[in-house]
This record gives sequence, structure tokens and C-alpha cells, in this order.
Amino acid sequence: MKEIKIGLILMLVFCATLLSAQFPEVDNNLDYKVKAFLEENVHNWRDMNIPVGDGRILYDLIIQNGYTNALEIGTSTGHSAIWMAWALSKTGGKLITIEINKERWLKAKANFRKAGVDKFVDARLGDAHDLVPALQGKYDFVFCDADKYWFRNYFIAMDPKLKTGGCFTAHNTAMRIAGIHEYLEYVEKQSHYETTLDEKSRMGISISYKRAEKSNKN
Ligand SMILES: C[S@@+](CC[C@H](N)C(=O)[O-])C[C@H]1O[C@@H](n2cnc3c(N)ncnc32)[C@H](O)[C@@H]1O
Repeated sequence: MKEIKIGLILMLVFCATLLSAQFPEVDNNLDYKVKAFLEENVHNWRDMNIPVGDGRILYDLIIQNGYTNALEIGTSTGHSAIWMAWALSKTGGKLITIEINKERWLKAKANFRKAGVDKFVDARLGDAHDLVPALQGKYDFVFCDADKYWFRNYFIAMDPKLKTGGCFTAHNTAMRIAGIHEYLEYVEKQSHYETTLDEKSRMGISISYKRAEKSNKN
């Protein structure tokens, strides 16, 4: 009995250590607020949201490259957006995120306020099929996580708006979902991009760095 109890305690300590390793170091009030919100809700994401480890991958990509103009396609209730907005709060940037479902969009907006990142997020309600091609300006980071069969079209629409050195990421690339294979086949052929698949992500995140503008030969 005593051994079982010790085993359970060790397991709990192990799980807590694993979880806390997923979160960045905190050093200001916003950090404490976001981290507390993410930790409190770590088991409450039920709307097709990314897992915590994938949030950390997006966070690190933004911080390491100093990205400031980010776009998310597919907000749901805001888990991935909170990770990206947290990173953007440090780089001096902002995130536009698009969601078609009003209920999830409202929940996401409430979550941004609770996490303290609302001033770093412009949450738009609408169909990304229309909103993405109509976006103005230049971006340096895109996270694509909406309707998979449209990923290729989102990529094509964003390519001219993505700065050289910028990065287009897509979720669920390790999964057999209609559209993913076609998307990867297309993006891997783009010689002005360098695409890798993140091996830490169980669901898969493709990371495509733009190395040059598209030439007529591509
Ligand atoms: C996998 S979930 C996104 C999860 C979110 N990135 C997160 O981790 O918290 C996909 C979301 O994309 C939205 N979506 C699907 N098609 C869309 C479209 N054409 N335009 C905008 N949003 C869309 C869905 O309503 C759904 O909420």
C-alpha cells in the first residue's frame, strides 16, 4: 500500500514537472496572468483546440524569429491564439485571427480577455475563404488551422502577403485528413519555401519558411 502511494506521488510530481516544462519562464504581470489562465484551463479545451505542446511550438517560433504580424486561420475558442498573442506581446506584434462560428468566436474573445492578451488580438468573425484573400498588408507568421481541404488555397492567397523570412505553418499535418496530403504535396514543391515537419507535435505542424519571392520559374 505504502509503495503504491509513493508511486502515485512520484507519478504526480513527474506529470507536474512535464507540464511546467511546457510553459515559458515568467517575468512580468502579463506573463503571470497568461500562464495562470493556460495552466488553469489545460484540461478544459474541447473545441478542436491544439494541445499545449503545439501552443509552445507556435510561441517559440514567434519569439525566436521576432515575428510581429501574425495571422491565424481558425480561432475556435482561442487556445492557439492565446499562445501566439502571448509571444507577440513580447515582440511588439499583433495577431489577426479568423473564425466562422459565432459561438466559438464569442468564447474566444472572452478567453482573450481572461488571459489578458485581448489587446494583442484582432478577432474577426467570418468566412476565411473570403477574408483571407481580402487581407491587406504584409505578414510574417501564419498559423493555418481551419478547414483542411482549403489549406492549399489559404497558402496561395497568403504567399504574396508573406514577407521573405516569414513562416507559414499548418496544423494536423501528421493526420490522415482530406486535404492535408494535397497541401503538403503542393507546399513541398514550392522552391521559394523551405518546409519541415515538427517532430515534437503528435498531430503535426508543418513549418514553411519563405526564402525568396516567387519567381516566374516556380
Ligand atoms: C481545429 S479548430 C481551430 C482550433 C484553434 N486553432 C485552437 O487551437 O484553439 C478549426 C476552427 O476553424 C473554423 N473554421 C472552419 N472553416 C472555416 C472558415 N472557412 N472560415 C473561418 N473559420 C473556419 C472552425 O469553425 C473551427 O472553430
